[in-house]
Amino acid sequence: MASVTLRGIRKDFGRTQVIKGIDLAIEDKEFVVFVGPSGCGKSTLLRLIAGLEDATAGDILIGGRTVNTVAPKDRNIAMVFQNYALYPPMTVARNLGFGLRAARLPAAEIDRRVNEAAAMLGLETLLARRPGELSGGQRQRVAMGRALVRDPQVFLFDEPLSNLDAQLRNQVRTEIKKLHQQIRTTAIYVTHDQVEAMTLADRIVLLRDGRIEQVGTPTDLFERPANRFVAGFIGSPAMNFFPARLDGAEIVLPWMRLPCPPFATAPTDGRITLGIRPEDFLAGTDTHAVPEACRFEAQVGVVEPMGSESLLVINAAGTDIQVRLIGRAFPQTGSTLGFAVNPAELHVFDAATGNTLRR
Ligand SMILES: Nc1ncnc2c1ncn2[C@@H]1O[C@H](COP(=O)(O)OP(=O)(O)OP(=O)(O)O)[C@@H](O)[C@H]1O
Ligand SMILES: [Mg+2]
Repeated sequence: MASVTLRGIRKDFGRTQVIKGIDLAIEDKEFVVFVGPSGCGKSTLLRLIAGLEDATAGDILIGGRTVNTVAPKDRNIAMVFQNYALYPPMTVARNLGFGLRAARLPAAEIDRRVNEAAAMLGLETLLARRPGELSGGQRQRVAMGRALVRDPQVFLFDEPLSNLDAQLRNQVRTEIKKLHQQIRTTAIYVTHDQVEAMTLADRIVLLRDGRIEQVGTPTDLFERPANRFVAGFIGSPAMNFFPARLDGAEIVLPWMRLPCPPFATAPTDGRITLGIRPEDFLAGTDTHAVPEACRFEAQVGVVEPMGSESLLVINAAGTDIQVRLIGRAFPQTGSTLGFAVNPAELHVFDAATGNTLRR
């Protein structure tokens, strides 16, 4: 087990700058998730840590040792990819032990480790099968098992669930989390799926265009996003954003004026973006819980009942708003209804910079 430290990491491919200066300290035993839109550099950063790419500048330390010039196989890491890369002619048992045989471990030790990994991942009854005789989820578990038997200092995962269907994805995701809670090996996990990031991570590193936008716990990023990009990326359905204006102690929207405590600094022209998450709206009699100034009327457009909750698109003075209501009851399309915003959950951004305004 080991810490991983990145200092001033940059990576260019030819003239294209892909990683533009990353500083990050990952602690021993931590589960860190790199998340961000496609092409932001997540896989490249992981491959730099694995040693599959050389950094253009900067230092990478694993367990306090600089590994810039250390070959991938000597970095004591194990990587799990999206395409499991199993050997089709070999049984599960031989696939699991492949790396250990290559490293010339004694047969008894290989057996011991293979059986231990198989037990951890519930693969005991599948050891004699070949990859072609396994489901996608089972194959991914074998791929994880192959990393596990090597007892690495650090696990690297690159979108290991993206080939699985939605249900299996949830199941294997839970297994990965359970596994980490058992063995506590430092793990770095790449995904573009913010739900995976939220559910797995001790800390999330949100990347955009080769730079870090914010590092923090899932709660930090959800409740205290540094800027509008983070606010819009984390949370599903995504946060609503409205162009608005600060006027003294009020936020002015076309459809309401919201009371608002002052900020430490505010844009001089008062131009802000107001962010409200879909779940921070109230409807019907629930609106009585908040001050009158936070209430407004809107017309119900699209209604998507989901069983225990419903997703609505409502319209207030020409503005479409995504709303998520908890509970089995839902309003009718076309009706006009009283809504309110929870004044404790407003996110206010400088319209020009996108940065969060702090109190
Ligand atoms: N070998 C390479 N040569 C040139 N450009 C590359 C190379 N590898 C990656 N890139 C570019 O670097 C950028 C980042 O790629 P990377 O694979 O790290 O993105 P990602 O965040 O993992 O995206 P995704 O979510 O789609 O997997 C992309 O614009 C990509 O085209
Ligand atoms: Mg990738």
